[in-house]
Amino acid sequence: MAAVRKFGSRALLNRTLQSYALPAAYSRCSSVWANVAMGPPDAILGVTEAFKKDSNPKKINLGVGAYRGDDGKPFILECVKKAERQMLEENLDHEYAPITGFPAFGQASARLAFGEDSQLVKDGLNATTQGVSGTGSLRIGAAFLARHYQASKEIYFPAPTWGNHGPIFKDSGLTTKSYRYYDPATCGFDFKGAMEDISKIPEGSIILLHACAHNPTGVDPKPEQWKEMSKVIKDRRLYPYFDMAYQGFASGDINQDAFALRQFIKDGHKPCLAQSFAKNMGLYGERAGAFTIVCADKDEQARVLSQIKILIRPLYSNPPIHGAHIVSKVLNTPDLRSLWLTEVKAMADRIITMRDRLQDGLKREGSSRNWQHITEQIGMFCFTGLKPDQVERLTKEFSVYLTKDGRISVAGLSSSNVDYLAKAMHEVTK
Ligand code: LMR
Repeated sequence: MAAVRKFGSRALLNRTLQSYALPAAYSRCSSVWANVAMGPPDAILGVTEAFKKDSNPKKINLGVGAYRGDDGKPFILECVKKAERQMLEENLDHEYAPITGFPAFGQASARLAFGEDSQLVKDGLNATTQGVSGTGSLRIGAAFLARHYQASKEIYFPAPTWGNHGPIFKDSGLTTKSYRYYDPATCGFDFKGAMEDISKIPEGSIILLHACAHNPTGVDPKPEQWKEMSKVIKDRRLYPYFDMAYQGFASGDINQDAFALRQFIKDGHKPCLAQSFAKNMGLYGERAGAFTIVCADKDEQARVLSQIKILIRPLYSNPPIHGAHIVSKVLNTPDLRSLWLTEVKAMADRIITMRDRLQDGLKREGSSRNWQHITEQIGMFCFTGLKPDQVERLTKEFSVYLTKDGRISVAGLSSSNVDYLAKAMHEVTK
């Protein structure tokens, strides 16, 4: 009031204060959130934000792992369109799903992962809940382990691993460590290093395994190597946590891609599993995923599921239903399911073709480097081996967007941009 009196009127006071143009830091001090520091953009999703701002008509986004058709556009699966048409006809309501999602969705997801004839699913030993896509499913598992797994609070990741694994598990209260996985010298799997490291992980620890199409490297163990890993993991009494975000995307065959998980079950492990339908059904924004803990008996399954519900309720109460309806319709309707299988195969095949074309293009450009790994790696991603300064040049000079670690989403390539990428990659690696 005194200040208003001094300046004659509030308007004059305000104008005078504005004219002093107080430094930002000074005005921030007066705010409750003055101490909130600016965070960096997300290592993967931030790439899309930068891509959108670029006006170069030749720009390519190979950052986020999202499948595109050969026309470069987001791809809606035919089986999904059909399922949605049927859902419309059925006039479904918008009621709440149960806390763990619709049973038809959960059971179909479990059968997809463990096998249509899986005995453990038939015996009801899977404590399965719907999750909010892969991330949300992983997070439920992480929270469950943090609260109920008594042997250890340490989880071991392959090095490198998906950029979101660290935050998911750390934010849930676990300590994250790593084991050797990728060999930069060969751009392939460091089997020896992985086995050496795994055999030294303290007993009882949790170990994270990418079931197929390892993200970010596209490097998977061979079946024989999986068998040996399963043995050493069992001997060390480690708890296997499978992340299966790409079933069908690696080989085009959902059963082949589930090999590792099913081998572990055969070997007597009782792992947990996070699944996502973002990639293999193209349901990115629908956030349909599942989380399962394999239990020893029915009683344990009921207890575990009851605790999963207790975790979910204060997080988001119950999951979104649209994507779950689609997945459940596709998996549980024979003709939609077989259409889906052909479509997953077609997506995987297109990615494989793009790998060939990129490799050929680099050869044609005259690159003398060894690009063998482009076709040896598998799934959505190729870990090119490009160094951070080369990645920076690709983006600055060619408007090719990718993550700093040199990962490209091969699913973002098409007949019309693959040669441009080959030329650009050659230019920055000459
Ligand atoms: C990716 O690795 O690009 C995808 O899994 C998308 C994401 O959420 O990071």
